[in-house]
Order: sequence, then C-alpha cells, then structure tokens
Amino acid sequence: MTALPRRTLGRTGLEVTTLGYGAMELRERPTGHNATPPISDADASTILNAVLDAGINFVDTSIDYGTSETMIGRHIAHRRKEYFLASKCGCTIDWAPPPGHQGAGPHDYSRANILRGIEHSLRCLKTDYLDLLQVHISPSVAELEREDVPGTLDLLRRQGKVRWIGMSGILPNVVDHVAMGIFDTFQIPWSMFQPEHEAVIAAASGAGAGVIIRGGAARGTPANWATRDYYRTKGTALGDLWAQARLDELLDGQSRMDFTLRYTLSNPDLDTTIVGTRNPAHLASNVAAAAKGPLSADVLAETRRRLAAASAAPQA
Ligand SMILES: NC(=O)c1ccc[n+]([C@@H]2O[C@H](COP(=O)([O-])OP(=O)(O)OC[C@H]3O[C@@H](n4cnc5c(N)ncnc54)[C@H](OP(=O)(O)O)[C@@H]3O)[C@@H](O)[C@H]2O)c1
Repeated sequence: MTALPRRTLGRTGLEVTTLGYGAMELRERPTGHNATPPISDADASTILNAVLDAGINFVDTSIDYGTSETMIGRHIAHRRKEYFLASKCGCTIDWAPPPGHQGAGPHDYSRANILRGIEHSLRCLKTDYLDLLQVHISPSVAELEREDVPGTLDLLRRQGKVRWIGMSGILPNVVDHVAMGIFDTFQIPWSMFQPEHEAVIAAASGAGAGVIIRGGAARGTPANWATRDYYRTKGTALGDLWAQARLDELLDGQSRMDFTLRYTLSNPDLDTTIVGTRNPAHLASNVAAAAKGPLSADVLAETRRRLAAASAAPQA
C-alpha cells in the first residue's frame, strides 16, 4: 500500500494525511439536500476501521452529525492514538431537524452551551481530549465577542480538553476570522466547482493557520452533480460545467471523481481534505487517488484555464 502524503496542519504542527475522513456521512438525516439513512453498527465499524487501516489520520465530526460521534467512540476509540480528532462547537445537542428542514440547525455560542457540548462530544467519542475544536457555522466576530467564545476556547485549552482551536468558516465572516489571529486552523469549502474561497484560504495559510478543505470531492458522483443543487457554481449544475469545460478530455484514464479529488489536492494551501463516504470501495479509490498526489502542473493549468473560460461563458 502506498503511504498517503502528509502535510503540516499549520501552526498546530500536526502531521496530517492530505486525505482526511469527514464523518458526517455516519449520521442519520431523513430530509434535506444531504439526506442520509441510518447506518448500522457493522457498516460504521467497517468504514471507520478501513479509514484507519488505509493510514488516514485525521477524522472530522460534529455534534450536528447525529450518530457520528457515537459511532467513532464505539468503533475506533480503542485506536485513538492512530488519529487526530476534530469536532465542532456551538451546536445544540437536543435539536432535531423537523420534517422538511434544510441546512444547519440553530447554534448557541454561549459558554454554557459550548461547555455542555464538549462534555457530550468527549463522552460520545470515548476520549479525554480533542486535537481540534472548531467553531461551527461561521458566526460573526461580533457574536464571537459578545459570547466571549475566545475566552471559552482558551478555558478548554487550559483544562486540557482541547489541544487546538479552529474555525469552520465561510465568506464573508471568515475574512474577519483570519484577521482575528486566534484560530489555529480553518475549515473552508473549496473544489474546482467552488473556487470562491481561494483567496481567503491563501490568506489563512499565509498567516500560519492549518487549512482543512471540505467539499473537496464535490459530493462524489456525477449523478449528484446533475441533480443536486448543493454545489453549484453560478447556477450551473456541476455536470454541465464539467461538460462545458470538456474536462473528460483531460482525464487520461482517471475517473471524474479521482480527477476532482486530485485537483483539490493540487491547492498548495491545503493541508488536508475531509472526504466523506460510507462505502469501502469509494474509500479505497479515494485513497489511491490521494496517494498519486496533485495533478501535474500542465494538466492543472489547463484545467484552470478551461474552468475559467466555461464559468465566464453566458449560462443557459
Ligand atoms: N463545517 C461545515 O459546515 C461542514 C459542512 C458539510 C460538511 N462538513 C465536513 O466535511 C465532510 C465532507 O462533506 P462534504 O459535504 O464536503 O461531502 P463530500 O466529502 O464532498 O462528499 C461526500 C459524498 O461523496 C460520496 N463519495 C465519496 N467518495 C466517493 C467516490 N469515490 N465515488 C463516488 N462517491 C463518493 C459519498 O457517498 P458514498 O457514501 O456513497 O461514498 C458522499 O455522499 C463532512 O463529512 C464533514 O466532516 C463540514
């Protein structure tokens, strides 16, 4: 088995595999743009152990991902030394999406809720500490300051419950989060279909923070690209953008998924990308693609040229 490349997660110094594991798929979510049915214990155990067996050493989860933290605690807590563990704060433990709900639930950044949340996470994850606690859903700096979130995170660090602190941020607030200078890492969406955060990713990395990319696999399948509106660029379905940019001509025998993932891994400011899957075969192909590393410089340049031209063209 080829070893997965590693990069240093900014000033945390953690040596993370460039392919991480996003554990959101281990939740049950009945409705919405990313509906997922319940996962059995056997399937959760299989995929989580396969993640570690493949050498992936960074696992991202959240209270908001329902059964995800419990599955991690139940099935791989005995292998805790093999992975860095990242979860999130501000989530509300008891909230369940009502029928038909889309998107994230309510978040509460008060000290009481964050402290309650970390105890819940540590209990579910069967661990004494998180390597990384990330503020979820990109609240404004005003809200962070009003609730003294920096003070709460500092308290958790001093208590040894959290080693490093991060922000799961998106525009526009993430620009201000980088300027605050207190976050060790940033989790930000980016892929060939979601280029909007490229400049702030570079700014975060340039400031010494670790960069965790989500959305790096664009939710996986061409079928998803054609039908879902989760990852669209300027109202264009991803499959259409792919066709307009004639990216099939650049595949050179690779699958579209492998090409998409390797494009993401070509971002020099990325330290890891957290791809989610429940499917061991998908995991194996993602690992094989990540082991190959970034696209070659000429293929990358041509891909960027074609995507820019297709994105600039008037859309139907
Ligand atoms: N901070 C936030 O606000 C936030 C929001 C969303 C997500 N996240 C984090 O980011 C992680 C990734 O989430 P994402 O939204 O970016 O999703 P993603 O990883 O781009 O896509 C996951 C989807 O791709 C499919 N997939 C994965 N590998 C595949 C392959 N080789 N072939 C075909 N399909 C494949 C999976 O289906 P199968 O199970 O069938 O493989 C799954 O449905 C999450 O797990 C979570 O940790 C964070």
